[in-house]
Amino acid sequence: MNSLRSMGCIIIDNALKERVSIPGKLDADIYYIYPPYDELPAILHSLNVTPKSCNAVLCIVPSEACEEIKSIAGSVDTPDNHFYVGYVCVGTTCHSTMMQDVLALYNDGIKANEFEFIVHKAGFIAQQYFEFKNSNKQHIHQLEDTQRDFDALINIGKALSIEKNSDRLLKLILHLSKTITGADAGSIYLVEEINGSKVLRFKHSHTFSKNLPYEEFTIPMDKNSIAGYVAVTQQVLNIPDVYELGPDDPVAFNSSFDKAHDYRSKSMLVVPMINHINKTIGVIQLINSKEDLNNNYNGNEAYSIQLVTDEDFNKKVVPFQKRYESLMEAVASQAAIAIENNRMIQQIQKQFEEFVRASVTAIESRDVATSGHSFRVADMCLKIAHAINDDTGSFADISFTETELKELEYAALLHDFGKVYIDTAIFLKSHKLYPKDLENILLKLEYLYRYQQLKFAMEIYNVIKDDIAFGIRLEQIQSIECRRDEVLQKIAQAREMVVALNNPMVKEIDVEKEVDELYALLQTLDCYDSENNPMRIFDGYSIKNLKIRRGSLNDDERKAIESHVVHTYNFVSKIPWPPEFARIPEIAAKHHEKLDGSGYPYGLKGDDIPLQARIMALADIFDALIATDRPYKPPITLKQALEILKEEAQKNKLDKDLVDLFINKKIYERFDRNAYRVNVAGSVY
Ligand SMILES: [Fe+2]
Ligand SMILES: [Fe+2]
Repeated sequence: MNSLRSMGCIIIDNALKERVSIPGKLDADIYYIYPPYDELPAILHSLNVTPKSCNAVLCIVPSEACEEIKSIAGSVDTPDNHFYVGYVCVGTTCHSTMMQDVLALYNDGIKANEFEFIVHKAGFIAQQYFEFKNSNKQHIHQLEDTQRDFDALINIGKALSIEKNSDRLLKLILHLSKTITGADAGSIYLVEEINGSKVLRFKHSHTFSKNLPYEEFTIPMDKNSIAGYVAVTQQVLNIPDVYELGPDDPVAFNSSFDKAHDYRSKSMLVVPMINHINKTIGVIQLINSKEDLNNNYNGNEAYSIQLVTDEDFNKKVVPFQKRYESLMEAVASQAAIAIENNRMIQQIQKQFEEFVRASVTAIESRDVATSGHSFRVADMCLKIAHAINDDTGSFADISFTETELKELEYAALLHDFGKVYIDTAIFLKSHKLYPKDLENILLKLEYLYRYQQLKFAMEIYNVIKDDIAFGIRLEQIQSIECRRDEVLQKIAQAREMVVALNNPMVKEIDVEKEVDELYALLQTLDCYDSENNPMRIFDGYSIKNLKIRRGSLNDDERKAIESHVVHTYNFVSKIPWPPEFARIPEIAAKHHEKLDGSGYPYGLKGDDIPLQARIMALADIFDALIATDRPYKPPITLKQALEILKEEAQKNKLDKDLVDLFINKKIYERFDRNAYRVNVAGSVY
């Protein structure tokens, strides 16, 4: 508190001395100095720094020397908050003094009573000056505090609304709370429900002066602990010294932590975090405010004061200022909103992700052979993307953010979603003919076989029936039997050919020629149904399928399967993605594009295919290659799969840099090919 302690009086100039009558008893120290006034700084300094220092000095100066004296006095290094120099000019008018109301134009000598009056008046004015300055200073400090609190609140609001990571958010809340209030230590508790009972989980803690370990634990949410009390009552507790708490206080301090870590908790400010529906979602506990109550430094500066010795704890730790109770309440409610928002966003994200995963699982369970494919592709895409982030070679300039990784993961999970629009039978088609079609042909061949048997039997019967010589009859029968065997053998052979041609395994045979021969062979054999209509073994559809050169799908079926990408795009683009995920439909729709333009559905080339889609193309092909249970292809070894990837890169179909990274960094080794297999019931295991 600055107030007038005592008055110093410096009378300048010996000539003036003679014109001033000094009263015999005066409550002021009198100094005389003379031109060139060299002593003035030293005297002013001594008046200011001695234990019995004055903080107001009256200089009685000749008016012609007034400006010079003021300049010398002004250059003296004294803290102006505590020191005040006033001037009385004797001689002529001096306009620039601060004590004009005590100024008089003394051309004559100052009488003793006048001098006394001047000194007392000067003292009075100095007193008023200090009181004014003090109150003004307090107001200024209050204004500064308010401004600082206001700024802090705005900054906290901004900071909290930006941070989306829950862990970092809690750390940020605690850090900001501590820096605002100048607290040395602090903890955050969050309310949880375990088995129907509410508990407070000790979630995050930090002590500036000491590197103290912390681990999560829970305490019951009841009035038996300080944090619990605040959580239950929703009241702010501002405790000047927790060791001074008595039996009448509503809370008691548990000193075991202090003892265990050689720390001294003293002042404590504990505020509840209350959400928009007035529920406590947590508690912020701040310990040991180090803020100087004389406002020499604010919370932000006080935060960095180190507490080491007992003396530090005794002298530097003060109670939390009253104003921090409401400020921290506001901070805590902002924190509560931020935490709730984060939880809500995460819950929505989690629900959406679970919905996507459940949908993908349901779709993939239609085809046991490819079940889990999308999950494995998503998994592998992320591993490739992380490897790109770590790469210092071809991908040194590329780094996927967390959001971009999530975008890639969603796109990969949904990349084959369009398959839902395609007939499952096509996916399950393991041979060129559907089982029922093959069965139909084989039955017809069986019928043909029996028909021919019967036909030849009738021929033999007719021969037996004829009245012809035995020798001739025998000869005719043998001839018939010979033709019969030949025909039956052809049918048996046709049967074998159908089964062989139905196999999708690549063979070095001219499939078309073989099917034509088979067809021609069967054309030579007549066959009629029970209504005597000619019966055809093969229809156009069967012939077309048996003529498939590679795999089990005909052109129409292949196109239908390829259309899944367009269906994927149409479906995925209907999802109202947030702006940061706006490219998901595009990435998902381009996973079958090839760099040389031979892919589908758009036939894009090179840079028109986003890196994410190239990553997905690589992962997609690799998963298909190493699959052991695809119905239409034999399993191949890992080595063979990698060779195929290299060939595809060589042919400018896959991104060569990506394939090199995939092989050189052995990303394929981190991939669990057995992950996400789906059982018949459709659940992932
Ligand atoms: Fe696909
Ligand atoms: Fe795929």
